[in-house]
Amino acid sequence: MTDVLAHLDAARAKTLAFVRDLDDATLEAWPDPAFSPLCWHLGHLAFTEAHWILARCAGDPSLSKPYARRFAQDGCAKAERAEGFERGALFAYLDAVRERVREAWPILAASGGARPDLVEDGYVGWFLCCHEHQHRETMAIVLGLVRSARSPGELDAPPLEDAGPAPRVSVPGAQVRLGTAGRLAYDNERPPQEVELAPFALDGHPVTAASWARFMADGGYATRALWSDAGWAWKARAGVTAPRAWRRAGAGWLRPRLGGWAPIDGREPVHGVSWWEAEAYARWASAHTPGARLPTEAEWEHAARRFGGGEALALRSDGPAPVTRDAARATDLLGNVWEWTADWFEPRPGFSPYPYRGYSTPWFEATHKVMRGGSFATDPAIARPAFRNWYEPSTRQCYVGLRLAYDA
Ligand code: AVJ
Ligand code: FE
Repeated sequence: MTDVLAHLDAARAKTLAFVRDLDDATLEAWPDPAFSPLCWHLGHLAFTEAHWILARCAGDPSLSKPYARRFAQDGCAKAERAEGFERGALFAYLDAVRERVREAWPILAASGGARPDLVEDGYVGWFLCCHEHQHRETMAIVLGLVRSARSPGELDAPPLEDAGPAPRVSVPGAQVRLGTAGRLAYDNERPPQEVELAPFALDGHPVTAASWARFMADGGYATRALWSDAGWAWKARAGVTAPRAWRRAGAGWLRPRLGGWAPIDGREPVHGVSWWEAEAYARWASAHTPGARLPTEAEWEHAARRFGGGEALALRSDGPAPVTRDAARATDLLGNVWEWTADWFEPRPGFSPYPYRGYSTPWFEATHKVMRGGSFATDPAIARPAFRNWYEPSTRQCYVGLRLAYDA
């Protein structure tokens, strides 16, 4: 990445466009204990930029250290993260950091500063842009949560309808290369790994809302045999009987979009389901289509490299779009909704933490499941075949659904 400042400015322009019209009450709101208020994400973006470029590379901690308690990942509890919010001061902090970075970067680029490894190829700029894109998606999740706390009013919804089961795409066995050797990548994508994949089949598109409604109508949430022990225990605790924030209306369902409540189109991919629900759905589907299961990360990444060209739906709309149906290829891989995979988030052979241990390592050890692809709220820079996203299997706030795979 040569044009670091231009890339940082472009990422920031998207962030500012996203929050510009939100009022203070929305920026301060804390709609879900597991997520931080929108205002914290903005402060955290400024803090992270100041920490990596100004403190680590340029040796000046004056715009990070005093802000660490409020805006570092480990600075304060989520319940305290809107404390001290003042709109003007927050945006002034973002601007102050960027102005200092604007002065510091040309000097760093010429000298390497205290961390030549971070400056080389603009790695730290790449990292900060991706970090900002990821937080912008999390902000879209938080905004969705704020919107869903409002009343839907008097909306009616048509029954959920789709075109029936997805077309199935066969993928021949192959020796495939996962991850990347490139420098501009996250630590958990490196080093690349050669894997022998057996032939498999993949649904051409993710599971639709209408298909999920068939699972529900068939007693999916009440049939013990469809659920793992851990999934059933989670479901009992969470009291879940439908995807997150689905509300009955007329013959169909409503779902909050970023713009407010709206009827669900049966052809859109289901989202707002936990990994446990995805697991139960796959077991239900396997009664009709033997061998139905969640794809492995390796299968998913291979399919994305094969089929997933240029369709990222970056903040193009305020929620998922109806899936594309194409008998000849898999669609909706890079955008629309994230897809849960079968795998726990684990390091690849040869993994080494970079640029800090806390980025990936604390989340390994069979505690988080990997989701792949991207959602309507994901920037194209993130929605790429090798990118690995991870959340606890009980998470259902994300724009995440699933796609079925099958042994060939
Ligand atoms: C990969 C989305 C789980 O938001 O916690 C942001 C990304 N890491 N700042 C998260 C991340 C540090 C991470 N996820
Ligand atoms: Fe962060």
